[in-house]
Amino acid sequence: MKKTILALQPLLQNEMHVLEQSFNVLRLWESREPEETLLGHARDIVGILSTYNSKGVSERLIKALPNLEIIAQFGVGFDNIDVRAAHDRNIAVTNTPDVLTDDTADVALFLLLNCARRAVEADMFVRVGRWQSGAFPLSTSVSGKIVGIVGLGQIGSAIAKRAEAFNTKVFYHSRTQKDVPYQYYSDLEEMAKDCDFLVLACAGGEETKGLIDLKILNALGSKGYLINIARGSVVNEEDLLIALRNRAIAGAGLDVFADEPNVPESMLSMDNVVLSPHVGSATLETRSKMGQLVVDNFLAHFDGKPLLTPVKL
Ligand code: 8YV
Repeated sequence: MKKTILALQPLLQNEMHVLEQSFNVLRLWESREPEETLLGHARDIVGILSTYNSKGVSERLIKALPNLEIIAQFGVGFDNIDVRAAHDRNIAVTNTPDVLTDDTADVALFLLLNCARRAVEADMFVRVGRWQSGAFPLSTSVSGKIVGIVGLGQIGSAIAKRAEAFNTKVFYHSRTQKDVPYQYYSDLEEMAKDCDFLVLACAGGEETKGLIDLKILNALGSKGYLINIARGSVVNEEDLLIALRNRAIAGAGLDVFADEPNVPESMLSMDNVVLSPHVGSATLETRSKMGQLVVDNFLAHFDGKPLLTPVKL
């Protein structure tokens, strides 16, 4: 008999099909009574397929499933999973690193370039016929500037590589100094003072919650831009709104928000922000690879083989 996996959100069609060949998949998002579906199958569920845009996997959910063995996250970040509660019960947790690194780093760069060169506004300028009445206002050069990256993991490093290709100088701030040719700052505020673009590529969760507050934004200054492809929780959104409103920073390019898919109403009318709906990994190619990795982790676990990408605390 097939084992039962609780899916909080779907994979792409092909990977969903592959998953369903080996497992009985409970499609929770299709259920009209999700709580009842859960309770009715609580003893059967041995795996959870979770995603960042689902509600996540709380200690309560873990406790409700007595035979749960593995939680496979469709994403690299796992701040929506109570990993400690899972590990305490010896439940494996996996994620999907590497396969989404390049696409996510690309989004950081397109936000950065969009902010500096005002690309969204420029597009609108042409569409509404304003070009006929005069030239588009001048924008800001990227080359020759300093990009300060917060979190130099896989994605941060891929951003650094791209930033270098645009003739910028790269600085970074992370918990520990790495063997890389970029200037390290143990003090985030100091780095914010010294850079033109502050790019967030760190993990979410309690450790980085509200890391970017008014103090850091003031240090970034009126010519500096904030770029966030990490998690909305890393930024104190109230402080960011104040900084944008008062032009304490030049602007922000945001792919992630504190309460997705809700974006603060006042941000929608600001001309100094570029907004994007959490699309770091959202390409067909990458989402397919992420799905395959989720499936492969499930298969490895239930075949008694080593997990491909386990999450360790
Ligand atoms: C989401 C992400 O997983 O990988 C991450 O950490 O935030 C994204 O790739 C994706 O939006 C699916 O929920």
